[in-house]
Amino acid sequence: MTDLAVEARARAHVPYSKFKVGAALRTRSGEIVTGCNIENASYGLTLCAERVAVFKAVSEGFREFDAIAVVADSPRPTAPCGPCRQILWEFCGDIWVHMARPGRKTTSRRMSELLPLPFDGRNL
Ligand code: THU
Repeated sequence: MTDLAVEARARAHVPYSKFKVGAALRTRSGEIVTGCNIENASYGLTLCAERVAVFKAVSEGFREFDAIAVVADSPRPTAPCGPCRQILWEFCGDIWVHMARPGRKTTSRRMSELLPLPFDGRNL
């Protein structure tokens, strides 16, 4: 999974931040859907690698997931940002999030650790 996230990371479109992120989302039946971050001159339109992977997967008909790998080259593990946590929780539930960095140990957390006390459909 991490190797595919590394490949996706190479396709990141990051002329503004230069911060490349790759993601690989695994379905419960073993398919992998990847994503990379895609920036825009109107910065707020930027899409994170995780959300690209989730939306690609959902649009292709996948609905059940068990893990996502996120790869970035940073001094500390790159955990999904707040909006991505919300999207990951809604579509993927309590999956594993593996945060990998080139040449370093991978850090793993469950979504319920990254987003305790979530707001979701059960609130509505
Ligand atoms: N970014 C991601 O793609 N995923 C994360 O988990 C953190 C941030 C992107 C958004 C933006 O293109 C760049 O990293 C810097 O914030």
